Amino acid sequence: MKASDLRNKFLQFFKTKDHSIIESASLIPENDPTVLFTTAGMHPLIPYLLGAKHPAGRRLANVQKCIRTGDIESVGSAWHLTFFEMLGNWSLGDYFKEGAIEMSWQFLTDHKWLAIDPDKILVTVFAGDNNAPFDKEAYRLWQKRGIHDKKIFKYGKEENWWGPAGKTGPCGPDTEMYYDTGQTQCQNCQEIGVACNCGKYAEIWNDVFMEYNKNEDGSYEPLRQKNVDTGMGLERTAAILQGHDNVFETELFKPLIKRIESISERSYRENGQVTRQMRIIADHLKAATFILADDKGIVPSNLEQGYVLRRLIRRAIRYGKSLGIEQSFASLVALEVLDLYQDVYQELLRNKDFILDQLKQEEDKFKSTLAKGLRQFNKKEASALASDGKAAFDFFQTYGFPLEMYIEELKAKHVKVDEEKLKKQFDKEFKKHQDLSRQGSEQKFTSGLADHAVQTTRLHTAAHLMLAALRKVLGGHVYQKGSNITQQRLRFDFSHGEKMTDQQIKKVEDLVNEVIAKDLEVSCQEMTVDEAKDQKAMGIFEHKYGDKVKVYAVGDFSKEICAGPHVQRTSELGHFKIVKEQSSSAGVRRIKAVLE
Ligand code: SER
Repeated sequence: MKASDLRNKFLQFFKTKDHSIIESASLIPENDPTVLFTTAGMHPLIPYLLGAKHPAGRRLANVQKCIRTGDIESVGSAWHLTFFEMLGNWSLGDYFKEGAIEMSWQFLTDHKWLAIDPDKILVTVFAGDNNAPFDKEAYRLWQKRGIHDKKIFKYGKEENWWGPAGKTGPCGPDTEMYYDTGQTQCQNCQEIGVACNCGKYAEIWNDVFMEYNKNEDGSYEPLRQKNVDTGMGLERTAAILQGHDNVFETELFKPLIKRIESISERSYRENGQVTRQMRIIADHLKAATFILADDKGIVPSNLEQGYVLRRLIRRAIRYGKSLGIEQSFASLVALEVLDLYQDVYQELLRNKDFILDQLKQEEDKFKSTLAKGLRQFNKKEASALASDGKAAFDFFQTYGFPLEMYIEELKAKHVKVDEEKLKKQFDKEFKKHQDLSRQGSEQKFTSGLADHAVQTTRLHTAAHLMLAALRKVLGGHVYQKGSNITQQRLRFDFSHGEKMTDQQIKKVEDLVNEVIAKDLEVSCQEMTVDEAKDQKAMGIFEHKYGDKVKVYAVGDFSKEICAGPHVQRTSELGHFKIVKEQSSSAGVRRIKAVLE
């Protein structure tokens, strides 16, 4: 069965069970300051898990794009990926354990659906702890379906608890379904059971019984409504249905690996061993392609999502180098990703040029910084660098110099290297940096405003006026690509291919200042996304099925979906001035502007 058939079958099955099909949300979560990427289907659904009414009903099913980088080091083994698709069915206060387990079982084993041999399935349930009891009900439900006690494993929170997605929020015990690949058990399998990571068992589906909310103080309270959140890994399940013992043999990876083989002039299988680097390159460049495809216009940088994106691309290039690839190759692999997925995810085609451009630029940049880094490295005393993990991190941070390369270069100079100490210090610095990025992302999700001071609120309203003016002066191709506002200035990225002329800049300033002078009211209305679309409000539209949004309007001049806040009248803004117009990335310009 092809992955595309599996996607379809899954949705079809849940349609027969009265579920409404909803679209995959963006990979970049909105209004969730605690995570950088959508790591599971639940992110976009959190308000509904907490009790808000979903316009599509109480039974939903979807295929959600996900990115997880938590175990990036495991990528390359049989079942681990950073980008994957998750098939999910959802009950928002509708069916619970009995219904969820029955549907999972039926879909997996029924001949009309996946027809997996029931003997090959093992399951896990929550063992219970101080916060919640042993999930006796799930245990019994599996027994009832003929699963032998030997094949039902009990684990604690580390295996059988899901959520919250951030620090607080909906969560609960889960039950997971595993497939036995038939490989022989390793020592660890015998000790810990099905949760062993050796590759013998593949976790394919997870039914979460979301019945708790985790609070700030770490306590758990029962949710008002009991929900079900399930997630089935598309790549893993497709691999199993195709009789493979790893995800890289499926048609979702084969063409990427073929392409890498031809670029590197190496084989995926050499002397009976798979070339692990090729798996990593394929995985990372697929993930990078999907991040770049997102309409939010994330570009490689040193912060937040951009940092993860940069890391994925650079890791892929580094592994490429280790295979002897000298030419630029990231965009060639990305083209294969486009081929594979463009029918399902239209954003890939929509943003094709942007994706290829960004990959090319980042690859060039990485190569030249690496060369620069190497020159700096060679100027320093090697013996001093050999135990200085902070220096190693600085080289990584400034020149993208991976720790492995730092160590290799030192070894080439024949100095004694304290690898363990280096790694420890490096990791410590790395963690510190990650925490900083996370703080950055928290700021970002309050509508791109650093705070709600009067000054930032004024600049925020000015940003709306400026976008409307840019579209009038430059054309309807102008969309917001990002914004960042502090008390001093606004920074605004927008789609436009060339440098603005002085006249155009002046015209935009004049238009904004005219609106300010008219002392127009800034009004706010709540409406559904569809109504907002009908009224031609600007904003990033994702399928939100009747979600209420706020629309801010300034006379007939500007209308935008936005969470606010804004000033009440335009006269509060003062005088608007553009202080800089420059390139931000290919096809994207950046303006810095102030109010005087
Ligand atoms: N949220 C759960 C998971 O990611 C089930 O969808 O495994």
